[in-house]
Amino acid sequence: MQIVCTDKESLVFEKIAAAADVLQVPCYLIGGFVRDKIIGRPTKDADIVCMGDGIELAYAVAESFQPKPAVAYFKTFGTAQIKLSHLEVEFVGARKESYTHNSRKPEVVPGSIEDDQNRRDFTINALAISLNKHDFGQLIDPFNGLQDIERKIIQTPMAPLQTFSDDPLRMMRAIRFAAQLHFTIASETFQAISDNAQRIKIVSQERVTDELNKIMLCDKPSVGWDLLFRSGLLQLIFPQMVDLYGAEYVDGKGHKDNFYHTLQVLDNISANTDDLWLRWAALLHDIGKPATKRFEEGHGWTFHGHEVVGARMVPKIFTKLKLPLNEKMRFVQKLVMLHLRPIGLTKENITDSAIRRLLFDAGEDIDLLMMLCEADITSKNANKVKRYLQNFELVRNRLQEVEANDQIRNWQPPISGEMIMQKFGLQPGRPVGLIKDAIREAILDGLIPNNYEAAYQFMLGKAAELNLQAVE
Ligand code: CTP
Repeated sequence: MQIVCTDKESLVFEKIAAAADVLQVPCYLIGGFVRDKIIGRPTKDADIVCMGDGIELAYAVAESFQPKPAVAYFKTFGTAQIKLSHLEVEFVGARKESYTHNSRKPEVVPGSIEDDQNRRDFTINALAISLNKHDFGQLIDPFNGLQDIERKIIQTPMAPLQTFSDDPLRMMRAIRFAAQLHFTIASETFQAISDNAQRIKIVSQERVTDELNKIMLCDKPSVGWDLLFRSGLLQLIFPQMVDLYGAEYVDGKGHKDNFYHTLQVLDNISANTDDLWLRWAALLHDIGKPATKRFEEGHGWTFHGHEVVGARMVPKIFTKLKLPLNEKMRFVQKLVMLHLRPIGLTKENITDSAIRRLLFDAGEDIDLLMMLCEADITSKNANKVKRYLQNFELVRNRLQEVEANDQIRNWQPPISGEMIMQKFGLQPGRPVGLIKDAIREAILDGLIPNNYEAAYQFMLGKAAELNLQAVE
């Protein structure tokens, strides 16, 4: 065998070979497993293609295991899957596919191993290894995929326009593999992506976003985003990102290119975290800048309120991209909203109250917010970078001090809305909110101590101002 498998993997392939031999169907290991083994990347999925019924082969293979694994199959696609503890194996009959112009629905007819390799997306994914008795372990590489792996090149086995038109998601896959594997997309293939970009519109948002998330989880996600931009795909799938691109000049004064600044921030944070949502927060932190950009005489370029506008854009972007509309989205929104606050605290004479306020607003996410702020430093001037980082270190120290004293991170004011309603016989409404907010503000500002008695007395005073009578 041309690839190095673990003993457990080899045993599985021997069982598959034996079952295929009994059924008299030639079969091959193909696709990502072969690619990743040659590269030396960890992999847990193996694709088996056979010249016959993939579902039947999967059942025969399952029989040879003790205990017998379940077989999941999809009759329409002729595919079956067996999940083993260390490997998920997918079986499919070799196919020739042809697609109609306006749909992804393929017409599938049985084919040979060559037919099957022809219809694969990239040469590096079209490598097959025989599991047949007479040539077990032999590499079948009609498109020089092995050489492309060595040269780190992504190109299609057939004419690229044909391959991309069969499944336009492959345009995004090319970019994702380039970012994931540090490969280069061959120029003819890249040109075809640009020429065919509009076809991405027929692909479901879920599949597109799946690729975006895979790009986001790369070591240097900027590589993928930049390729999306340069191919023209980004304009179609995420135009708000493209709006960040470029620097405008008035009276010789320009602002930085917010697209490349954003990508730098994303790479900076990715060097320190694998958290997908923190990475999304980095990508979106300045997304409100184009909408708030002004040139003010004597002042230069400003982006006032871009954090507020950006935070408002987050749910719309998550909805469009079909990203989850749950606490992950709220986390991203919160970080976009707060990303300028720690900078405001790097000045001198910052009060405890300002620090308490940030702790209260950021809550549990304060450390991740600080990480984002540090990643946001993209100056090329080493002295400036050093100074900014030192300033943030001081802010971190202050945050720690104030937190140690006041425990604000997970803090809830000592008087709740329910208590206020009960005391004054109120229904939920504006007066309750007014009193509740006033108590919280008074404690955060340090006007009253953070305890029940002080808050209670303060509540009575505030209620009197509003002419409210206690009912109990
Ligand atoms: N494939 C393809 N066109 C697609 C998707 C997949 O030709 N749009 C083929 C490729 O040969 C690929 C194989 O199917 O190697 C398996 O697909 P998949 O599991 O999606 O990709 P992998 O290459 O295994 O990589 P990853 O798991 O990282 O997505």
